[in-house]
Amino acid sequence: MKRGEKILFVIIALVVAGFMGRNLWRLNTIQEVDKGIPYFSTAPAALERAAMDVYREQNCKGCHSLWTVRDLIKFVPAPILDGIGSIRTEEWLYQYFSATKPQELLPSRLKKEYQMPSYAHLPEAQRRLLASYMASLKVQDWYLQETIKAEQEVLTGREYRP
Ligand code: HEC
Repeated sequence: MKRGEKILFVIIALVVAGFMGRNLWRLNTIQEVDKGIPYFSTAPAALERAAMDVYREQNCKGCHSLWTVRDLIKFVPAPILDGIGSIRTEEWLYQYFSATKPQELLPSRLKKEYQMPSYAHLPEAQRRLLASYMASLKVQDWYLQETIKAEQEVLTGREYRP
């Protein structure tokens, strides 16, 4: 080995050792807190199963995303239903599913074909089931706050203080 090569070799070894040392130090000192998936349901298993049967039969997933499941071909910009129970009450949801014109309760900016259809024709028991299950879909407070903050900052362009 020539002298120049040796020096280069030593430099590379030092750099590599430096990175390894830094990574090891980071591994031991920085503890990333993994807060996990912020969505959860408080529904008993039987309610969840029965409601999801109606959800499937009515093909709600044709427009909505829930538990990351959505229609991959047709893309309708409908609201994601995860955590919906943290912003809507069971009673509101029941009224919404029972409305002959849901857009009177929640206005729409979308084309008619993409808008929330009326489910007033479903048997009452099925509308109650859907409302009860949807109301059980919650989001952790910290995530809701972070989302509201981010949304407000995009909308207003200013730092959001609750
Ligand atoms: C044709 C597409 C489509 C289908 C099918 C559909 N939705 Fe919707 N839904 C929407 C859209 C779009 C909105 C937002 C309001 C609007 O634009 O009419 C909405 C709104 C909602 C909301 C209110 C969300 C909020 O922000 O408060 C709930 C809850 C909901 N849908 C549940 C369901 C359920 C349950 C089903 C199946 C029984 C279903 N939707 C089927 C398109 C659809």
